[in-house]
Amino acid sequence: MKKIIITIDGPAASGKEKISKYISKKYKLKHLDSGILYRQLAFYFFTNKIDSDDVNQIKKKILKINQISFRNSKKIRTQEISRFASKIATYDTVRYFINKLQHDFVNKNKKIRGFVVDGRDIGSVVFKNANLKLYIEVNSEIRAKRRYKQLIDSGEKSIYPKILKEIKLRDKQDKLRKHSPLIVPKGAFVISNNGTFKETIEEITKLVEKNL
Ligand code: C5P
Repeated sequence: MKKIIITIDGPAASGKEKISKYISKKYKLKHLDSGILYRQLAFYFFTNKIDSDDVNQIKKKILKINQISFRNSKKIRTQEISRFASKIATYDTVRYFINKLQHDFVNKNKKIRGFVVDGRDIGSVVFKNANLKLYIEVNSEIRAKRRYKQLIDSGEKSIYPKILKEIKLRDKQDKLRKHSPLIVPKGAFVISNNGTFKETIEEITKLVEKNL
């Protein structure tokens, strides 16, 4: 039986993760957050003191990695790792490595009826033939405000202008890179997440029910 695939792409802090979690739970699908893989890889290079600009060293080291954790954790969510992940995500070797991990994961989980995969290139490159493709759009000021509130609520120190600057920098890096830049994938529905989560989810569930 062919597996159901829903792809959710969009910029940093657009709410993809929360939406993906909700949709995967509601429709009994497995959620795969591809950003975690970029972050885990970035964390690995960072802790092994490899410079994010040293593409040759990264190419050499990546050949020796046989396993990457798919698990989320606080240590891969720092601004430093976000920046590092976004930098190495510009290298085609890294993208090829992570794309393969995602395909292997889907093929390996034979009993699962389908997946919700979120990231930056999922509908445009990784799962081009997905059943439903979504692209989440939110303006950068709203994203920065939400991220700022999240950090403050979790007891971390945070400065709004700094967060806005980081978000804009990551957008630039993700949208302007040569390999698999962040775009609206062909055939994707563009969903505005500028309003409430409830409004966004209502729009998405209608699309899921119509398209699956
Ligand atoms: O989604 P998240 O912010 O966790 O992703 C971290 C970084 O990994 C992004 O800024 C982006 O540069 C990169 N990424 C990517 N392609 C994906 C997922 C993440 O380039 N499919």
